[in-house]
Formats: sequence, structure tokens, C-alpha cells
Amino acid sequence: ALPTPHWRPRLHFTPPAWWMNDPNGLVWHAGRWHLFYQFHPHSRVWGPMHWGHASSSDLRVWQDHGVALAPTAAGMVFSGSAVLDAAHTSGLGSAGAPPLVALYTLHDEAAAQAGQATFQHQALAYSLDGGGQWQRLPGPPVLPNPGTPGTRDFRDPKLRWLPERQRWLMALAVGDHIAFYSAADLRHWVHESDFGAGLGAHDGVWECPDLFPLPTPEGELWVLLVSLVKGGPAGGSATQYFVGHFDGTHFHADPEGPGVRWIDHGPDNYAGVTWAGVPDGRAVFIGWMNNWDYARELPTAPWRGAMTLPRELQLRRSGAGPGGVWRLCSTPAREVQAGLGPVLWQTGDPAEALNFALQAAGGCAWLTCQADARESFSLLFDNGLGDGLRVGFDAVDGVYFIDRRLAGETGFHPAFAARHEVPRWAAGEALTLTLVLDTSSVELFADEGCSVLTSQVFPRAPWGRLLCQGPVQGLRLQALG
Ligand code: FRU
Repeated sequence: ALPTPHWRPRLHFTPPAWWMNDPNGLVWHAGRWHLFYQFHPHSRVWGPMHWGHASSSDLRVWQDHGVALAPTAAGMVFSGSAVLDAAHTSGLGSAGAPPLVALYTLHDEAAAQAGQATFQHQALAYSLDGGGQWQRLPGPPVLPNPGTPGTRDFRDPKLRWLPERQRWLMALAVGDHIAFYSAADLRHWVHESDFGAGLGAHDGVWECPDLFPLPTPEGELWVLLVSLVKGGPAGGSATQYFVGHFDGTHFHADPEGPGVRWIDHGPDNYAGVTWAGVPDGRAVFIGWMNNWDYARELPTAPWRGAMTLPRELQLRRSGAGPGGVWRLCSTPAREVQAGLGPVLWQTGDPAEALNFALQAAGGCAWLTCQADARESFSLLFDNGLGDGLRVGFDAVDGVYFIDRRLAGETGFHPAFAARHEVPRWAAGEALTLTLVLDTSSVELFADEGCSVLTSQVFPRAPWGRLLCQGPVQGLRLQALG
């Protein structure tokens, strides 16, 4: 018999029990990072969707608050977003105490089963106590499905305040495109524009959009995230992005670019969006660390589904001039880094102490290394039970890789055992890499976050040995804290 699984992550958010998918309602409010999530509180498989709720003061330690919104006779509570209505535009609550307002997709499964054309609408809920209790706005959904051709999938509203227009913007996934709506009061929505039909990847329907500005040395640019269920670079679900300009009503993608761009080339980063209301304006992102291909089969218990580490997003230009391309780069949020534990081993320390350091860290670690991009190297983790996880750089193909084929439990789905890679985006000989190894995941951030791989792994015991193959120059191992 296998040992009892110990796959509860240390740093990554998981619900105490049951099924979780997309992050929802990400809003910073009164010193706390609120994280709502698609939740089925009676089962480890997807079902009638609720919003679960957790919050954190530091993006490291999460307090779970249980169910925030449950399905009603009108339908399930699908993905959506939340904002602080600071100017009290909605008229909900009182002027002295502005409400948190969430828009979510009301999914009427009975109507879908009955073959009706419209079964997804946008509905409003609000909280007057900072996110604890939620009331639904009485009456019909604030944005009913128009029922025109192509609006069968009509979901995942993401809200943003547009100061220039003094209006709210909603980005909404509508089958093969993103629709933008605006409202002065979060309740009366007007269609502004559509983006994306014929652009980007379309192997699955578009889901979970997010549109936000980022500063660059050349001025502000806007990024549009779009998730799609299948057709990702590692197989199955993934999140693509577009870079361009937003004029208040329309998003215009820059024509430049090598085709489809992905925020993460690994198999396990889906439906991610950014927090609203972050005081310093950073774009702080979190994704569902999973893939619809095998999410229902994961061997974890009593929960199923985890989030990625919270990440900060930035734009960097790779290559100058007309050949240059904006890359959306992700690095672990500074809050996560601030709480790391002590350095347990670094290059120069006795070689034989490396394994003890990894064991002292419980097989979980924050690893950084430098290497020479002209030579291949790999880090091989093993646990004495024959499980091996290999992570590294292939200088011949110019790719970083994570190979989880032999990394423990893989048999629960045929798509799981695989090697994934991401092209190196940086040029030059100096290569830097950060690896975040948690109980059941590994995240690789290279080239200042321009090359990213996120991968779940289920070793049958914690990693206890680390073998470096090839010239790894400066290796440092820190406890996750
Ligand atoms: C994305 C998604 C969303 C939907 C939700 C339902 O993973 O399919 O489009 O709102 O999950 O749980």
C-alpha cells in the first residue's frame, strides 16, 4: 500500500476540503487580500458551483471563510469578480460605508439541459461587512443574455473602474470573443465593443478575461488575458494574452508578436486573473493550478484543486526595434518572497550537506541558480522511493523543462505523465532561474519571469535528495518559511 498522501501544499492555497476551480472576486480591501473561488462543498468533483471565500494579510497564510455564495433556484454561481464601490456608484449600502460589489455568472443548468439558448447571465451580489455576508440584488440579472447568435457562452465578468470615464468596465467571455460593457452604477450595462474573433488561439471557448494597464518605459500598455479550455502549449487548458491599447471603449491589440503568447507554458495555470484595488497599483495575479484535462482525477484528498503562487505581472520587451516583442512576465509576489525561511545551503557549502538541507526543508524549497546558457544542466530531485523529478535547461534546443513523467503518481490520467518546456526568451550567456518546490507542485521562473512553467507533481514521499547535473554555478536553497 502507498503511504498516506501528504500533498497539502505549504504555500499554495487549497480549500480545507472538496472541489475548487477558478479564482473569483479577487479584491484587496482594508488590508486583506480576498480570494473567492469556484467551489463544490459536497464533493471532490465539479458540480453545483458556489463561491468559497478565503482571505490573507500577506498572500502566504490564508484563512478560509467557507461558502460566500450558494446556488439558488435561479442557477449556479459561476466565475466573476469583485470591486470596492468606493464612490458609492451602485447606491447599495450607505455612502459612509461603500459596499463590495461582485458580478458573477448566473448559470441556469436546468435551462441548459432543456436546450434553451440562454442560460448564462450576469448577476450582482454585494457585501456591507467587508466580504463576510453577501446579499443578492433582487430582480432580474443586471446583464441578461441577449440571446443573439453566438452568445450561448456568456460568462466570467471582470470589473474595472475607468477613472477617465467615471464608469465601470466589464470584460466578458462570449464564446469566441471578449465583449466589453460599461456602466455608471455597476447595474445598467451598455455594450461597448467586441474583441478577438479570429485572433489568438481558439481551440476551446474563451473564458475568464482580464483587461488591465501596465506601465512600460514607452508608456502605458494594456494587457488582455484570455483563458481557453484546450489547445494550450502543454496540452489542455492555458491562458493566452494580448498586448495593446485601450481607448476607454475598445481594446486594440498591437499587431506585433510571434502568434499566440501564453502567460505560462506549463500545464497547470488556468483561469487566472488579477486583484482589484491593490493599493500600489501592482498587477497581482493568481491562477487555478490545474488543467481541465485531468482536474477531476487528481489523487489529492480531502480536497481537489490548488491555486498558483500569487504573482506580479510586468511587461518586458525582448529584442529591440521592429523585431521586439512585449512579453508578459510573472514573478512570485514580493509578499511571498518576504516570508521565506533561512538559506539552508548555497554553493560553497559542503556538497554532502545539500540533501540534508532539502530534507530539513521538508522537501519543499525556494531554489535559485545561475548557469551558463551555453551548456545544459538539470536538477534531479528524488525521494528514495524511485520517484524522480527533473527540471533544467537544454542548451541545444534553448528550452527550460520540467519532466514529471517519473515524479510519483501519474497513472490517474494518461495526459499527466509528460515533459513540458518553454523557450528561453532572454539572450546572453548568463541564465538565472528560480524554482519553487511545494509539496505537490513545482514552478519555474526564468529570465526575470519571461519564461514560466507551472506543474503539479505527486511524489509518493517528500523530495529528499538533489543531484545537480551539468554546470550549475550559484545554487541557493531556502526554506519556504
Ligand atoms: C473556467 C470555467 C468558467 C466558468 C467556471 C465554472 O474554468 O469554465 O468559464 O465560469 O469555470 O465553474
